[in-house]
Amino acid sequence: MNLTSEEKRMLAGKDGGLIREAMKFLVALGEAYNAERMIDISYANVFIVTSFWGEGSLTRDLIEEAVNNGVRVRVPTTSTNWGCGSLFTPDNIWEILEVPSSLKDQVLREKDIAKRLGIIPTWTCTPYLVCDTGWYPKGSYISTVESSAVVYFNSVLGARSNRDCLASFYAAITGKYPAYGFHLDKNRYGAYHFDIQAKVETRLDFALLGIFAGKISAMETPVFTGLRKPRSEGLVELSAAISSSGTISMFHIVGITPEAPDLETAFGGKKPIEKIIVSQADLENVHQHMSEKEGKVDFVCLGCPHYSIYEIKEVAELLDGKKIHKGVTLWVCTSPPTAMFAEMAGYADKIRQAGGIIMSGPNYCPLFGPGKPGPEYAFAHPNYSVGSFATDAAKQAYYAKPNLRAEKIFLGSREKCIETAIIGEWRNN
Ligand code: F3S
Repeated sequence: MNLTSEEKRMLAGKDGGLIREAMKFLVALGEAYNAERMIDISYANVFIVTSFWGEGSLTRDLIEEAVNNGVRVRVPTTSTNWGCGSLFTPDNIWEILEVPSSLKDQVLREKDIAKRLGIIPTWTCTPYLVCDTGWYPKGSYISTVESSAVVYFNSVLGARSNRDCLASFYAAITGKYPAYGFHLDKNRYGAYHFDIQAKVETRLDFALLGIFAGKISAMETPVFTGLRKPRSEGLVELSAAISSSGTISMFHIVGITPEAPDLETAFGGKKPIEKIIVSQADLENVHQHMSEKEGKVDFVCLGCPHYSIYEIKEVAELLDGKKIHKGVTLWVCTSPPTAMFAEMAGYADKIRQAGGIIMSGPNYCPLFGPGKPGPEYAFAHPNYSVGSFATDAAKQAYYAKPNLRAEKIFLGSREKCIETAIIGEWRNN
């Protein structure tokens, strides 16, 4: 790769051991993908999970040492959700989740490391709902973890990111990233054309469409026509669903995606691999495969990806004056900033009075994070199951069986999930 003098200096260790290791990693990544150069990123969204890096590993030691020696992120950087407590969780959250004290200590240490690195503590999978959009304007180079966020940044906002993991952290502390993948124009064009003839309006419709299109597209970029004025929550849901059933980093919606003013531009002038007509029956078929029809429910999870304040308002209105059924757990997952708005607006009180829990701390969603019912807990307790699980999110429904050993999975609208939490069962109506 052609490196600038600044990049060579970092690689030579002149900015410290952690920056050297970060540049080594980014150069190796770039060489693996034949990148010719590094690009300057304007924003990063990272995992701070030191357990991923291994107890006592070189990198972890380096991070502790580097933070103590003043290493900080070089671009605006946010944190995705994993286990970090915030002000807005219930007081007894660690007990509710049965988090062992050693894991709690690790989580709190990670929170402290993130703070000292200068990372903005958003702790969310939807940072784009709470952060300054000026950090990632159309065409900007960014590096983000969390597959649904990658798709949303690329497809709705027109920023450029690959599906990153540790590379995002290294990009944040160097401000650099190898120029490959979805950073290059040539890799951003569409491959499959999905002509939507089904009614796609609600969040659930977008969930089903995402699962359908992700399975067919696999790793290629789909282009959608026939979608009219989607609400932002539909686009968030589509981003999450499509990156669950497929290894998708980007979609185009003609007339919505900044790079897709028309079909020809979305495909870069090439012919699609295939044109697929999406019918109502296709989406109903997906729904039938993903959701049981009726039965008792133990756990209802909303807020995947993390709800916006407007969605929390809708939940509060649906729960106003009602009570969650005895024995049913209702989680509403969101970011700490959004939870704060919900407190200020009185929505959080209404949800709590009904018996629901706003999750904005450790274990922001059941699929990740420390404690019960997360996968670490489920696999440490061979007989554990989350029970019957209802959600309005395709991603939760997609992973609840393998991650949480859900007995039954119900996927439906937000209204249906809340009705279920109140009556304790999913009815076939
Ligand atoms: Fe976010 Fe968890 Fe869903 S991280 S996208 S709420 S699976």
